Amino acid sequence: MNAPSKCLVSGAAGFIGSHLIDQLLARGATVLGFDNMRLGRRANLAGALENPRFKFVEMDANNVAEVSRLVAAESKDKPFDIAWHLAANSDIRAGVSDPDVDLNCTFLTTYNLLKVLREHAIPQLAFASTSAIYGVHPGVLHESIGPLFPISNYGAMKLASEAAISAALESYLKRVWIYRFPNVVGSRSTHGVIYDFAQKLKKTPNELEVLGDGSQEKPYLHVAPLIEAMLYIADNATEPLNCFNIGNADSISTVRYIAEAVVQRQSPTAKIRYTGGNRGWVGDVPKFSYSIEKLKKLGWSPGMTSNQAIDQAVEEIVSEVLRG
Ligand SMILES: NC(=O)c1ccc[n+]([C@@H]2O[C@H](COP(=O)([O-])OP(=O)(O)OC[C@H]3O[C@@H](n4cnc5c(N)ncnc54)[C@H](O)[C@@H]3O)[C@@H](O)[C@H]2O)c1
Repeated sequence: MNAPSKCLVSGAAGFIGSHLIDQLLARGATVLGFDNMRLGRRANLAGALENPRFKFVEMDANNVAEVSRLVAAESKDKPFDIAWHLAANSDIRAGVSDPDVDLNCTFLTTYNLLKVLREHAIPQLAFASTSAIYGVHPGVLHESIGPLFPISNYGAMKLASEAAISAALESYLKRVWIYRFPNVVGSRSTHGVIYDFAQKLKKTPNELEVLGDGSQEKPYLHVAPLIEAMLYIADNATEPLNCFNIGNADSISTVRYIAEAVVQRQSPTAKIRYTGGNRGWVGDVPKFSYSIEKLKKLGWSPGMTSNQAIDQAVEEIVSEVLRG
């Protein structure tokens, strides 16, 4: 992946996809991005759209005929060498109340994109997977543990996607990178705990209701080091199947820390009301700790702790939410 590459990016107008595109363009890549705008925002691509090496199309990943036509038209001068697949339902709670959301947005987008890669002989795939595939697992989560039993439909459909990608590697793909992200935070967020808290406080500036007792704790990673790690892995991990946790080593943040940081930044006199219990919502994994030993061995370490990532993201997200 070191040479300037020609990339197809699904979920291009979303939070992580748009940041990834900025960095791909900065290293000289040519990028065709698409998104059905379910959660994506054109504003996220404002900078990228000024670059002549970037093209964006509003399109659904499950419309195989349309995606295939576009890829054929855009491959005339030079074929695509990699697809970055980020299109998915990123709202885990939506998939708890309606499992079809994750079947369609999370699994079928992968299954259908694989058909396009096969048809157009695009040899490499980089896939945004998740810590949610591990479910509730005692001890530190590393890439080789199993069997895996996710507790959300989202996690189940990501795990199924990993399986479909592995099978595709056996028959037509040449190389894949599976990234198991932790919770990612930063500017352009379309969802997530900081975004939710900021939206709630905007509506009721005197009180912030927090699900659970605030003790839920997870590793959070800022989107800037996440993208850095994704590119580092694509440049340096050269097995046919490369699967990596990306995260903050030995560093977590509690929901209480996040709630207090958002209140402090946005509405310092607001009271925080905890609903009680140590679980936020059905499908939420309340505590986990992530091993990134494999990634460290490859040569990449995060430069920020989880709380530093939260502090930076609170500043960015609250500013965006207040702007409107
Ligand atoms: N943000 C996190 O903390 C996190 C953690 C683990 C994994 N991930 C994964 O990273 C990827 C990006 O997540 P994000 O946080 O940027 O979420 P996001 O919702 O901002 O981005 C996903 C994008 O995919 C688009 N999309 C959904 N269904 C589509 C379809 N059928 N066709 C075309 N586009 C479609 C959405 O409109 C959205 O813009 C997702 O695959 C997500 O599951 C994110």
